[in-house]
Amino acid sequence: MINSFFFVFFLFICNIILADEIEIPIILENCKGCHGYNFKGNKYIESLLDIEKSEFISKMNDYKYSDDNYAMNRISKVLTEDDIKKIAELIYDKK
Ligand code: HEC
Repeated sequence: MINSFFFVFFLFICNIILADEIEIPIILENCKGCHGYNFKGNKYIESLLDIEKSEFISKMNDYKYSDDNYAMNRISKVLTEDDIKKIAELIYDKK
């Protein structure tokens, strides 16, 4: 009885950990919709790869904490600072 409780609890924890791993790459797919495949931009938007990783993180945090209501402000509100760091790693560390 106790063992099965711990087994279910274990599955629950795994689920949380895996959910986090899967979520960030999916969020990145959303960014590509506007910023282009490989984040290199398009005729409307400049390439995200033109800025440095540190600049990316500070811009994302500026969007997050600003009271404006442009696309990037809305998108970044739902991200935590930790999400922003993970996104930055995925975009910039493999460059
Ligand atoms: C609905 C379209 C849209 C989506 C989706 C989107 N962006 Fe943006 N993003 C923009 C626009 C438009 C700008 C430029 C205008 C501005 O500064 O608000 C921008 C600007 C940026 C900038 C600043 C770039 C610079 O050179 O100053 C960063 C960084 C950025 N986006 C990151 C992201 C990330 C990361 C995601 C995914 C979580 C994302 N964007 C999703 C539309 C979008």
